[in-house]
Amino acid sequence: MAFDYIYSERAAGLRPSPIRELFKLIQRPGMISFAGGLPDPAIFPVDEFAACSDILRSKGLEALQYGATEGYRPLVLEIAGRMEPLLGRPVTPEEIVISSGSQQAMDMLSRVLIDPGDVIVAEAPTYPGALHTFRAVGARFALVPCDHDGMQTERLAETIERSRLTTGRLPKLIYTIVNFSNPSGACLAEARRRQLAEIAARYGIPVLEDDPYGELRYSGERIPTLFSMAPGGVLYASSFSKVLAPGVRVAWAVGDAELIRGMVIAKQGMDLCTSVVAQVLVTEYCRRGHLDGHLAKIRAHYATKAAAMGAALREHLPADQVSFSEPTGGFFFWVRLAGDGQALFRRGVDEGVAFLPGETCYPEAKETVGEPQDGRPFARLCFTFAQPDEIVEGTKRLAAALRRS
Ligand SMILES: Cc1ncc(COP(=O)(O)O)c(C=O)c1O
Repeated sequence: MAFDYIYSERAAGLRPSPIRELFKLIQRPGMISFAGGLPDPAIFPVDEFAACSDILRSKGLEALQYGATEGYRPLVLEIAGRMEPLLGRPVTPEEIVISSGSQQAMDMLSRVLIDPGDVIVAEAPTYPGALHTFRAVGARFALVPCDHDGMQTERLAETIERSRLTTGRLPKLIYTIVNFSNPSGACLAEARRRQLAEIAARYGIPVLEDDPYGELRYSGERIPTLFSMAPGGVLYASSFSKVLAPGVRVAWAVGDAELIRGMVIAKQGMDLCTSVVAQVLVTEYCRRGHLDGHLAKIRAHYATKAAAMGAALREHLPADQVSFSEPTGGFFFWVRLAGDGQALFRRGVDEGVAFLPGETCYPEAKETVGEPQDGRPFARLCFTFAQPDEIVEGTKRLAAALRRS
């Protein structure tokens, strides 16, 4: 007989992650997937990583033991060194925490900052995984629309004010993906970064600068981080997932030492520590100088794939039904559709191609404070995972699905 569980209020509010659920649908043989935000396994540095594993002979006793919740010290120092030029100043180990993916850093931050009903300001569209984590702590969302240059920061102050008027309190956090956003591919323009930093500082609202794609720029110049513009109130998070391999589950966050301490305490109750074996291997991989070489390789590899998908979309999709701009980095094309993305998704799966319907990248109206936004006429297409022939064939299948509408 089924047991009668009395679920927590928090669990009652939980819904399955749409992406994780879609993954089940698209496991069919022959399916071409533009759906997940997955790196290309064809360029995983398997040999270098395997060679690095000989470090376990000398560091094995440490690697196989529990580690500090804050992270494996040599990796923390490695990251401090790598971050200094990006963050505009030296950072101390106390300002860094290693997390099990940056997904966990979001979770740690949410547990430290967010009470049920609190408002998080986010650009729309935004990363569905962040929505999932923020929802789990009962957050509501105030949305700032996004264009090719990222969050329209000229509308940020009015969004904050409107949220304050509705809820009687200021939002608790501003969440933004500054570089080559998931899903929109947009890169926040420098003037907008300065405006965002200024508004956040004026209102005293902390910012989560989520930056897993910052190293994956395929053209143009790097733009300074938000952290370098407003160091006090910005938590900068990044990850080895997109630049090395998501399977290592190693990421990091840099911010105010007191906030980091709170996050470390939250993490103590989650997993005690990030896999030390993984941290030791990643440290060794960086120390041997492999990461910079690999970065150059994947930038070139993904730039070619982005160009291939751009060309395929232009050649095969009906121009009167779609519009998009070319991403200058990251993993995604964000395509505006004439019709509904969910309906197209179902037809696409019938044709043997999958993508992420835009709706998953927006909070629902009932969890939105102020103007909800409509994600239905969008599709996110990931160009990094599929192989070149699949990019062309998948686009043709998408065209067939569009013709059936
Ligand atoms: C914007 C953004 N933030 C965070 C994550 C989570 O990455 P990680 O594998 O480090 O948990 C992703 C993964 O797709 C992402 O796109």
